[in-house]
Amino acid sequence: MLTVQLGSGTASDSGADALIVSVFAGAVADSDALLELEDALGGGLLSHLKASEFDGKLDQLTEVPTFGRVKARRLLIVGLGPKAEIDGARMRAAVASAVRAAQSSTTKSVALSLPAPLPSLRAVGEGVVLGAYKFARYFTGERKPKAELSKVSVLVPGKVSTEQKKQLDLGVAIGHAVGIARDAVNEPPNELVPETLAQVAQRIAKEHGFKLKVLDKKGILAAGMHLHYAVGQGSTNEPRFIHLSYVPKKKKKKVVFVGKGLTFDSGGLCIKPAAGMGEMKSDMAGAAAVLGLMAAIGVTRPELEVHMLVGAAENMPDGSAYRPADVFSSLDGKTVEIINTDAEGRLVLADALAYAVKLKPDLIVDAATLTGAALVALGKTCSAFYATDDELAAMLDASAHEAGESFWRMPLLDELSEQLKSDVADLKHTGDRWGGSITAALFLREFVGKVPWVHCDIAGPVLAERARGIYPKGGTGHAVLTFLGLVERLAAR
Ligand code: BES
Ligand code: MN
Ligand code: ZN
Repeated sequence: MLTVQLGSGTASDSGADALIVSVFAGAVADSDALLELEDALGGGLLSHLKASEFDGKLDQLTEVPTFGRVKARRLLIVGLGPKAEIDGARMRAAVASAVRAAQSSTTKSVALSLPAPLPSLRAVGEGVVLGAYKFARYFTGERKPKAELSKVSVLVPGKVSTEQKKQLDLGVAIGHAVGIARDAVNEPPNELVPETLAQVAQRIAKEHGFKLKVLDKKGILAAGMHLHYAVGQGSTNEPRFIHLSYVPKKKKKKVVFVGKGLTFDSGGLCIKPAAGMGEMKSDMAGAAAVLGLMAAIGVTRPELEVHMLVGAAENMPDGSAYRPADVFSSLDGKTVEIINTDAEGRLVLADALAYAVKLKPDLIVDAATLTGAALVALGKTCSAFYATDDELAAMLDASAHEAGESFWRMPLLDELSEQLKSDVADLKHTGDRWGGSITAALFLREFVGKVPWVHCDIAGPVLAERARGIYPKGGTGHAVLTFLGLVERLAAR
């Protein structure tokens, strides 16, 4: 377990295994912490930093040997960028990078020295936990981590207030909520099946006193969610529909978050090529994001009713699998002709969105690793989002910015709707290759009625090829912080 505490000690006196000093750009020579260290080390630190061109730029990170002259065995210095530009997102990312870099097989404790003026300590708490994240469950023997980072002391200038302590603790708890999403994405698909995803929801429900309803395969059929049922019918790991709800006494509005929960997407009968198929264990990252969000909401407890729906299934080829040309009816009654069994996400989501509409919310937000086309359009670090309302789009944009996550709005081009006309059913579920992320969004729009709606195609950023800022390599927990920001904005309206 990691404990994060707040103190106002002197950096050079810290007895932590590793000391991280953060400095603003261009302020290396007037950083109190660095000046103390310059003394304690017997000189040479500032001239070394100058010679190695470390000047506190954002993302700059350097390790300096201490040769036993200060208590901390290791010294890391991280840049925060210009003082005038510091905000929560930059602070969070810099702290996360530095804590990640400080991890080693002998580093059990870290002290983090922060300069004034401090942006939110909540962002610092988030950054610490996000940077300390590791997924090491499946390592044995030599590969098993020998030491775990168990203590981080955050050193702030001046006196420590209870409000600062509260903000730091809140950030720590939110960081752990993002960790739930990362863990779920990193879990191998033989372990994390739809039933396991429901157990994750169960744990969150229990911890925070949320209401939980889970439909199994029979229940999904009985409820009339034939699209979801069809996607899951080719797998022995049976589908689940998960409905988790947070209903506070004081509430102004109701929002529903919907997540795509494909615990593995082989493509079904329209099977994917072998290369890269393993990445499709992350096809439940939308579900992971909304589960992580609920865990965070359990801590922040906003004055807003929040529901979470997850359509969980495994898309497999089998004698009982659904096929191209099949026709099924959705929960809202529309019939759908199956074109490609690999476009399974929008089918599961269609039923979940129709279910969401029945809850009569003020807003529906969905998150899904929906299309490869979103990756082609925006690359692997940015999500595509669609909104039926400009004000909502602006709110999502601002939330993403504050979270330091990349989201870019895409258009719901009506002229592409023609592609979804079927000769045998109300709708075809895919169009042609061009504008693939847009036609997927247009298909989903058919199921949200008149409810204001935001759709996030998060196929790219949920898995990272290398660690960067708040994101580690592997499952990133992308969208949790953005959604949390959106919830807070909605609650404040
Ligand atoms: N889960 C995939 C989308 C995906 C692709 C996510 C790559 C992350 C990385 C989705 O179910 C899918 O297979 N979509 C198809 C749709 C097509 C058949 C219309 C796609 O994008 O190729
Ligand atoms: Mn697919
Ligand atoms: Zn998929």
